[in-house]
Amino acid sequence: MSFATPAEHAAWLRTELARHNILYYIHDSPEVSDAQYDKLYHELVKLETENPKFITPDSPTQRVGAIPASAFGSVTHKKPMLSLGNAFSEDGLHEFDTRAKRHLGLAEDTDEKITYLCELKLDGLSVSLTYENGVFVRGATRGDGTTGEEITQNLKTIPSIPLRLVGENLPALIEIRGEAFLTHSEFARINGEREASGEATFANPRNAAAGSLRQLDHRVTASRKLKVWFYAVGEASGWEPESQLGWLEQLKAWGLPTNPERQLCVDINEVVATVAAWSQKKNTLDYDTDGVVVKVNDFTLQRELGQVSRAPRWAIAYKYPALQVETVVEEILVQVGRTGAITPLARLTPVSVAGVIVSRATLHNQDEIDRKDVRVGDTVVIQRAGEVIPEVVQVVTSKRPENTLPFKLPAVCPSCGTPTLRAEGEAVTRCPNTQSCPAQLQTRLEYFVSRNALNIDGLGGERLAQFIEAKLVTDAADLFTLTKEQILPLERMGEKLAANLIAALAAAKNTTLARLLVAVGIRHVGEGGASRLAQGFGTLEKLREATVEQLAQVPDVGLTTAQSVFDWLASNTAFLDKLIAVGVVAQGDDAAPLSDHFVGKSFVFTGGLTLFTREDAEALVKRLGGRATGSVSKQTSYVVAGPGAGSKLAKAEQLGITVLTEDEFAALLPPSAPASREGEAV
Ligand code: IVH
Repeated sequence: MSFATPAEHAAWLRTELARHNILYYIHDSPEVSDAQYDKLYHELVKLETENPKFITPDSPTQRVGAIPASAFGSVTHKKPMLSLGNAFSEDGLHEFDTRAKRHLGLAEDTDEKITYLCELKLDGLSVSLTYENGVFVRGATRGDGTTGEEITQNLKTIPSIPLRLVGENLPALIEIRGEAFLTHSEFARINGEREASGEATFANPRNAAAGSLRQLDHRVTASRKLKVWFYAVGEASGWEPESQLGWLEQLKAWGLPTNPERQLCVDINEVVATVAAWSQKKNTLDYDTDGVVVKVNDFTLQRELGQVSRAPRWAIAYKYPALQVETVVEEILVQVGRTGAITPLARLTPVSVAGVIVSRATLHNQDEIDRKDVRVGDTVVIQRAGEVIPEVVQVVTSKRPENTLPFKLPAVCPSCGTPTLRAEGEAVTRCPNTQSCPAQLQTRLEYFVSRNALNIDGLGGERLAQFIEAKLVTDAADLFTLTKEQILPLERMGEKLAANLIAALAAAKNTTLARLLVAVGIRHVGEGGASRLAQGFGTLEKLREATVEQLAQVPDVGLTTAQSVFDWLASNTAFLDKLIAVGVVAQGDDAAPLSDHFVGKSFVFTGGLTLFTREDAEALVKRLGGRATGSVSKQTSYVVAGPGAGSKLAKAEQLGITVLTEDEFAALLPPSAPASREGEAV
């Protein structure tokens, strides 16, 4: 392919990338491999780096990169975003059909039928997107239906949202509506990470989707794999869709994602049958739905029907009965977590909730128990929504047996007997004995050996419990001093098993700094944070010498995390020394500096890079003896700025710091250093 001008080349790449994106996300039939896509993408980045004036708002390079917002602007919807009336039964659906017929002037006993389109009601967050001349220019939340928050930049990070529409009949201005949501698998991944880093988990996928989309820092949105499916039109200049089904097909043809799950029904009886059929099917989907939206298919009829107050007459939301059932609380258990948090858990008479047997439900904390007044022996309503842990909704007090007592969390830790504490203003009750509480030790050790931490084969909860019980270990470091002779006498242990365990432990001593940082369980440090800290500091010694400010300079490590790491390192010196003494070697994910080429120099990389990934460029600087930091200060020697650079570039200019292009940076490298990401590590 040859082009008359680089500008033409860039335009071709943009169109081509947009086309491949749609083939991948909308039609599920990619023409090129991921690597070929990346190659085109980097060609475009390179052209844009050389000629920043080629950058257009719909360039795929503009999905992430701009600076975080300090507040959301507001957007007034051109047409209000309505809500829907509800139907809770078959009768409710028939009444809706009757009302529509009456309004259309059809006799009650008419043979005429209304055709409906059934769509699943997605349980997420409704959003509105505006495209002008095919280009995505503005996105907003529903807000109160009249005014929402401007979240354009956040929506741009969702890869399946096209930044430019393709195909025929594109209206000059079009505003479309849909639902942003998270799949169960992505929800589980996000919560898993949050749990690992000691952050509060989201209660359900809906809350997580809302929390992810309404982020001032859109890089956070980008890290959560949100999806959007479109289902409605707001304003479309010069465009009169004929039917809801036709409209959905048109959206798809323009490259907009729609839910493939839909059913055209010739009358309300078919709607009733569809709703019944979907009641089973919906439990097998990887996303939450709380019902079916039934829409009059014909737009002429829709217009005739219009709306009452804030809801259309042409659509209704059928809501499935909540997944709630009654059962009995047989016992209230108390669990002691890794950090000493004490969580009450109801052991229930097992019941099936939407096909899943439930025998436990979380009671969260003392405040929640008090609020619901849950007691042992109570009949309770429990609920399971999506992938969420079942919870107790309320007590059926009319069924309460006599002589029950309000439940109070124990005044002493059920594991070690230490008096429990509840900090002022906190909901969590804790066992403060972090040093020698067996239950805390157990959960900490389980975490230490788990797959994403030191990943020690053959060491599960039961084995660890045996070690603790036999007083063979008082902390994770003791695991590495265990001998075959010590563990042989334990139950269900044999020569071979003992030898394997000791060998697995010996092998695990050689680990990476990132894994070790995960394993020790520092609040706010998940896998991502651990690996960035490891990259930033290379060795445990360096990390231990770092100040809070230096920790906070690691890309994507905020002040809270930095403080938490600092405090943890400071209060666990004995434990860390012991780990080193027993032979744990946490090799940096970065090799130690190999040259002093950049000694005394510090770099900040910002904006898009072509020749290197940002991580590689930073690693390279460090290996050459320099420092790579996340923020610009008077101490910064160079700012390497690519396309899309924002506040950091501005700050560098303001402070008079030398700004380099990526090529100029590459020219500073010694001849032996790799020139690009294809090169080998130094
Ligand atoms: S149509 C005027 N279709 O339900 C009707 N809404 O209660 C516009 N929703 O705010 C909505 N899935 O967030 C429509 N397939 C679907 C939907 C859907 C979920 C949500 C949407 C809306 C709410 C109305």
